[in-house]
Amino acid sequence: MKMTIKTIIEKKGHEKITMLTAFDSITAAMAATAGVDIILVGDSLANTALGHSNTLPVTLDEMLHHAKAVSKTSENCLVVFDMPFLSYQMNDSASFFNCGRALKEAGCHAVKMEGGSERIPLFKELIKGGIPVMGHLGLLPQHVNAYGGMLVQGRSEESAAFIKKEAVLLAEAGIFSLVLECVPESLAQEITSELNIPIIGIGAGRFCDGQVQVISDLLGMSSAAAPKHAKKYADFYTTGTTSIKKYIKDVQQGDFPGKQNIF
Ligand code: KIV
Repeated sequence: MKMTIKTIIEKKGHEKITMLTAFDSITAAMAATAGVDIILVGDSLANTALGHSNTLPVTLDEMLHHAKAVSKTSENCLVVFDMPFLSYQMNDSASFFNCGRALKEAGCHAVKMEGGSERIPLFKELIKGGIPVMGHLGLLPQHVNAYGGMLVQGRSEESAAFIKKEAVLLAEAGIFSLVLECVPESLAQEITSELNIPIIGIGAGRFCDGQVQVISDLLGMSSAAAPKHAKKYADFYTTGTTSIKKYIKDVQQGDFPGKQNIF
């Protein structure tokens, strides 16, 4: 079944929503073939495939380059483009134009941005212009310097009330869905039950309408430790390095190429 904004919204209260990042046509094909609902071209591209230590350095053009590849093999998934740092924080017409590029040039279906009520004027313009918006509250990785680390948000009563209020305002502004990252489970549960849009959690516990994960954490693609909220379903890094070691040995011993590999 082809996923659209409408089918995603309709899942709320009926069926859990699955969302996973992808950063090229190979990872997107794996996610789509497995049947995830939403593929996120996440700005975690920066600290997964591009080797940066956080999400800040990735540029809009780099993101678009990867998103074009993702869109080619995403089949029936809804593809959401994560607006990178400094691509949507300026005056609204420049931000609007940048968001539009995700749909026009990369074939994505919606954009995601971090932040709360300060983004509402932009979000309303985008929605009016036919660009669906997914919000992102809780831990905002693009604020890593302001926090002084990747810290769980919403632990105090004041901070939880603030996040909840912001979630309500964003939903009223017309976002179709909201990512909640690294907040206490009880806060995510409250927001999920009070809002009528799908809440997609990452490190936000069991009661959200859906879950999002970073594909390299899920598949164990790197040697770096995964965050606490992630579950490693495979160990691609070990399989990859072990296989490459076998290739090296085969070449060195003259066992590759074999008869079947030659012309
Ligand atoms: O870029 C990303 O991977 C994300 C997820 C953490 C939701 O924004």
